[in-house]
Amino acid sequence: MADKNPFPGENNTGHIWDDNIRELKNDPPRWWMIGFWASIIWTLAYAVLYPTVPVGDEPNKGILGWTAIKEYKEGLAEVEAVRARYETQIQGMTAKQILADPGLTAYTVASAKVLFGDNCGACHGSGGQGGPGFPVIVDDDWLYGGTIEKIEESITKGRKGMMPAHAKRLSPQELDTLANYVVNLSQGKDDPAGAALFKAKVCFACHGANAKGVQAMGSANLTDSIWRFEPGGVESARRTIAHGVNDAGDAETRQAVMPSFADRLSANDIKKLAVYVYKFGGGVQ
Ligand code: HEC
Ligand code: HEC
Repeated sequence: MADKNPFPGENNTGHIWDDNIRELKNDPPRWWMIGFWASIIWTLAYAVLYPTVPVGDEPNKGILGWTAIKEYKEGLAEVEAVRARYETQIQGMTAKQILADPGLTAYTVASAKVLFGDNCGACHGSGGQGGPGFPVIVDDDWLYGGTIEKIEESITKGRKGMMPAHAKRLSPQELDTLANYVVNLSQGKDDPAGAALFKAKVCFACHGANAKGVQAMGSANLTDSIWRFEPGGVESARRTIAHGVNDAGDAETRQAVMPSFADRLSANDIKKLAVYVYKFGGGVQ
C-alpha cells in the first residue's frame, strides 16, 4: 500500500495493491439499493404480521394471529363441511339410489377406500382380489349374489356357507368319483357315472340340479373353473367333499366365515362399502 495516493482526485479509498489495483468508493446501483431497502421493510412487516422472532419458548404472535395448526383446522373444517353434505344425503338413500347418482358414487368410492382397507382388506386383499380361503370380490362370480342389495346383505349379516362333511357317508371310491366329476364339470366334460352319484347322494339339493350353485345358500358353482377353495383340482375338491365347509363335527373342515358388520360399522359406512364393492366391477343389476 502506498503512503501517498498515486491517483489523486480519484474516488478511491486509498487502498492500492500491486501499484494500480484500487478499491473505489462508488455507490451501489440504484436498483440494488431499492431491493436492499425493500427486503428490510418486507422482513419488518412480516415480523409484525406473522410469528417470527422467538420470545422465550414461543415466537411473537403476530398481529394476524396466524398459526399453522389454525390453518390446518380451518382446512379440515372446510373438508368436513363438504363431507357432511354428502353424508347427510347418503343417509336418506339406499345403496341402489347412490349408484344411480354419479357424483355421489364418486364421493362414496373415494371415501370407502380407507374403510375397505381397515375392515375388509385383511381377508379379501387390499383390492378385493381375495386370498387363500377368502373369496375374490372383484369379479362377477358370486356365491351369494352380486346385486347391490345382496352385497349389502353380505356385509351387514355376514355369511357362513355350510356343507356337511361326507367322509363317513361316502366310500373312498365314491369320493374319488365325485371329486373327478366336479373337476370334469369345471372343464366342460361330461361324466355320466359322476352325474348319477351327484344325484344319488343329493348333492343337487344344495348345488342345484345343474350344479351351478344356489345363491340363497352360497353353494359354489361347480361348473366354472373358479374354485372357492384353493388350490382347486381333484385333491382339493376331494377334501371339500370329505370334510365339508364349516362342519363343526369335522376337524379338517374348510373354514369359511364372513363376520357380520351390523354392530361394527354405521349404516352409512355399510352402504358405502356395498357401493365400493359393487364398483370393483363385478356388480350385477
Ligand atoms: C375375517 C375375514 C373377513 C373379513 C374381515 C371380511 N370378509 Fe367378506 N367374506 C369372508 C369369507 C370367508 C367369505 C365367504 C363366506 C362363505 O364362503 O360362505 C366372505 C364373503 C363376502 C362377500 C360375498 C361374496 C360372494 O361371492 O357372494 C362379500 C360381498 C364380502 N365378503 C364383502 C366384505 C366386505 C365389504 C368386508 C369389509 C367390511 C368383508 N367382506 C370383510 C371373509 C371376510
Ligand atoms: C347342505 C348343502 C350342501 C350339500 C348337501 C353339498 N354341498 Fe357342496 N357346498 C355347499 C356350500 C354352501 C359350498 C360353498 C361353501 C362356501 O363357499 O362357503 C359348497 C362347496 C362345495 C365345493 C367347493 C367348490 C369350490 O369352488 O371350491 C365342492 C367341490 C362341493 N361343494 C361338492 C359337493 C358335492 C360333491 C356334494 C355331494 C356329495 C355336496 N357338495 C353337497 C353346500 C352343500
